[in-house]
Amino acid sequence: MSHYHIKHLEEYYQVYRKSVREPENFWEEIAEEHFLWRKKWDKVLSWDFTKPEVKWFEGAQLNITENCIDRHLSTRGDKTAILFEPNDPNEPAEHITYRQLYERVNQFANVLKEQGIQRGDRVCIYVPMIPELAISILACARIGAIHSVVFAGFSSKALATRINDSECKLVVTADGSYRGAKTIDLKGIVDEALQNCPSVKSVLVVKRTNEEVHMEAGRDHWLQPLLDKAPKEGKAEIMNAEDPLFILYTSGSTGRPKGMVHTSAGYMVYTAYTFKNTFQYREHDIFWCTADIGWITGHSYIVYGPLANGATTVMFEGVPSYPDFGRFWEIVQKHKVTQFYTAPTAIRALAKQGVELVDKYDLSSLKVLGSVGEPINEEAWHWYNDTIGKGKSPIVDTWWQTETGGIMITPIPFVTPTKPTYATLPFIGVQPALMDDNGQEIKGNQVDGKLCIKFPWPSMARTIWGDHQRYKDTYFSAFENKYFTGDGALRDEVGYYRITGRVDDVIIVSGHNLGTAPIEDAINEHPAVSESAIVGFPHDVKGNALYGYVTLKDTGESRNHENLRKEINQLITDRIGPIAKLDKIQFTQGLPKTRSGKIMRRILRKIASNDTSNLGDTSTLLNPEVVQEIMDNVL
Ligand code: PRX
Repeated sequence: MSHYHIKHLEEYYQVYRKSVREPENFWEEIAEEHFLWRKKWDKVLSWDFTKPEVKWFEGAQLNITENCIDRHLSTRGDKTAILFEPNDPNEPAEHITYRQLYERVNQFANVLKEQGIQRGDRVCIYVPMIPELAISILACARIGAIHSVVFAGFSSKALATRINDSECKLVVTADGSYRGAKTIDLKGIVDEALQNCPSVKSVLVVKRTNEEVHMEAGRDHWLQPLLDKAPKEGKAEIMNAEDPLFILYTSGSTGRPKGMVHTSAGYMVYTAYTFKNTFQYREHDIFWCTADIGWITGHSYIVYGPLANGATTVMFEGVPSYPDFGRFWEIVQKHKVTQFYTAPTAIRALAKQGVELVDKYDLSSLKVLGSVGEPINEEAWHWYNDTIGKGKSPIVDTWWQTETGGIMITPIPFVTPTKPTYATLPFIGVQPALMDDNGQEIKGNQVDGKLCIKFPWPSMARTIWGDHQRYKDTYFSAFENKYFTGDGALRDEVGYYRITGRVDDVIIVSGHNLGTAPIEDAINEHPAVSESAIVGFPHDVKGNALYGYVTLKDTGESRNHENLRKEINQLITDRIGPIAKLDKIQFTQGLPKTRSGKIMRRILRKIASNDTSNLGDTSTLLNPEVVQEIMDNVL
């Protein structure tokens, strides 16, 4: 019997030890007992971090949608699979049963096939948080097409870059989307993007807002009439374990976004297993993850992980502030949510609102609270624990990444004693290592270093789409034979991990991962700008906010700085999206640089954070005089 459901701390340690000593046996048992395979594997794991190459369950055949849908039909056909809560609280919620999900996914899959989509083709999904988003993902997986979901808050330029990078043949979108009181013209954004996307042959449009939109003859089709004609049955394509399931883009510290490639079998096994344990999921629970499916959190813990366990998963279309800041708690009460999984930035925003908006609602259904995406500060942790959890619902502070596919370091609720701001212990099968700057592993407790993982886990990304070298350079070159996460961490006296934040040029703003380079590229497109540097600074709700230092071209004219700031933020909104806008923009005479011309971000970071007592050695700079000038004019 495998330990699919861990119930106490001793069992955790016992299972953890087994997963490290005999990883193949361990994962084989989990895979064997809890999933539906068309053919079993020949080999559980082969790996080589120097190439790097990782394969799990090689030789196995499966379809993830048979695991997420078909196999539940006999026992859970009438159970709600997806519980959709619309933006407008007066619009009724929609309960989609497993049987209905089966039919809708098949219909959608049949429409995709009719549009010429085949196994291995890429499909871009640019859809707001409505049921069709989850259904289109599953429909792709059903026929072996590779989905590439792009968060529906990205700009047309960002969308086009992602469509072109993986040469998507088809785009699924909606006429528009609702976000609180706002309506967003999604189709307009898609039309703009597609001016430069030669690979796209067709667009399927979901009707949501009923706004009038342009429909390009021959290319664009309303989805519903096609669905209505499509059969509700359909065979699942039998996939190989290591066939790509999806691509999901994440920011890098330099250059273009990275299309992380996740494959079928390992991803399925790991997301299902982590879901079961991290949330102590039980049959009649109502699980709600507030993330957008445009991010990995939504892929793994709104769609695949919950459905693979036959769970009821809530999908919320709206925002926490609409119609007021009580909305999350109203939804918890209305649907009797048992597990609630959100980001620290949302917790901080809600904690600012005063307790009346919480006390109005009955939150007694809650059993487990989750946090993800960025470090959770002590104050937010206590508010979440006390005010929302009433001290009885453990907080699982889950550390993981787009690249890891599933949760890596986390407490198991009612099993691992929690500790504020600590993600605590590695999940089963995860072997973390803290590294020093000389590339040596730091052993023992009460130490800090750069966080690496030294052994493969089933849901790790296998490559970057179209650029395996970049995959190797980014994750496997900093430390020999280890996956480097880009994060710093400390390990306390009992071996609990606390993630301290990024150690590269990625900045996490409101839980969103932003690379500095693409933002700087956008700013530098402004005709008046000579160069720029972006750093993060602490922000009480967003965790970090963005601070831009911008030097202007010397044309002798005086300029209106307020207008320039607006223009720069508009450029960023156009190139990336509103999430990357700068909170502060300081115009400077120059940027501090090393003699080799590298911008000293460390100094800029300290100045932006108002932490100038110890700037370190500035004498080696090429232009030390700019540091004083920047400090004198800090915003
Ligand atoms: O810096 C870590 C932070 O988010 C990064 C990964 O971002 P992304 O790929 O967008 O995935 C976010 C959702 C899984 C990490 O490198 N991060 C994520 N979770 C935590 C965290 N930092 C601290 N504590 C966490 N629980």
